[in-house]
Amino acid sequence: MKTSIISITNQKGGVGKTATAVNVAASYAELNKKVLLVDLDYQANSSSYLGLKQKAKNKHKTASNTLLKQIDLERSILKTKKSNFDLLAGDMGLSKLSREKILDPGAAMILKQWLDSNAINKYDIVIIDTHPSLDLLFQMAMTGSHYYLVPMFAEADPFDGLEYMFNEITQIKLGLNKQLFFLGIVITKYDKKNSTHKKFLNLLNEFCHDYKINIVGIIPDSKAIASSSSQQTPLIWQNSKLPVTQAYLKLAKDLLPELRGARMGRTQKTPLITETPEHIMAIFDDEPETQNVEIF
Ligand SMILES: Nc1ncnc2c1ncn2[C@@H]1O[C@H](COP(=O)(O)OP(=O)(O)OP(=O)(O)O)[C@@H](O)[C@H]1O
Ligand SMILES: [Mg+2]
Repeated sequence: MKTSIISITNQKGGVGKTATAVNVAASYAELNKKVLLVDLDYQANSSSYLGLKQKAKNKHKTASNTLLKQIDLERSILKTKKSNFDLLAGDMGLSKLSREKILDPGAAMILKQWLDSNAINKYDIVIIDTHPSLDLLFQMAMTGSHYYLVPMFAEADPFDGLEYMFNEITQIKLGLNKQLFFLGIVITKYDKKNSTHKKFLNLLNEFCHDYKINIVGIIPDSKAIASSSSQQTPLIWQNSKLPVTQAYLKLAKDLLPELRGARMGRTQKTPLITETPEHIMAIFDDEPETQNVEIF
């Protein structure tokens, strides 16, 4: 299988990018793919999730060190507990890198050049966890990826910022990365007993149908995500039977045919989403006000 590079992106914070990146990556490892997770977020939440943030920092084995060519890529990659699942860790150096390189004309290509190397070709799948911004790190991820996936949560104004993100992506596709392919939306933290979530999903289905966007996965709301992250163990290594674990495994499996086919010369228009449509916004207006909020 040719290496497939997938960025998990949404400039809105806290929508489940890291949970999706780690658990999709671990699911692919479970499916016997050779996987590299790249933590391109200076919050380094994916690295913490895998229990490797401190080790990466101590040993200077991080994405920023390798992108700044202070240490070569193969030496920067860390092993997880699974032999076919590696990590390139994030750290605060990424923030410095993005500030320092912002005026450098070739900066968006740095990650791509590095992803084209032989050290990357031996992986079947590379997953990039991005941070909630449209800065240079985002441009680097989008320039270096074959695909992107957008996690979305059923909360007020779920399309907030997507317009800007898709505009940026359109520019990148016009220039640096024509083949970049939108795999679709993943609904995260979905509670099937929550009527707002249900209404949201129905309307989003209609919306996505009109815009030819795929909803590629629905990940249930589950406390297991927070506990697997605090125990620094992806869901599939912990409890493979949970619905949330199965949902991530299904997402990974469902995307496989797309990963094998989508790069065969297909081109794709980026959706022109301008804002959350009023009828979708209206669902969230009906939500009951939070009671008894203490103000400190
Ligand atoms: N399916 C889920 N069920 C319940 N909680 C979830 C689920 N997915 C993610 N969470 C929780 O939501 C919070 C945000 O998730 P996560 O860190 O993955 O978002 P993010 O988009 O990566 O955030 P950031 O933009 O800061 O990088 C975390 O506390 C996480 O444990
Ligand atoms: Mg994150």
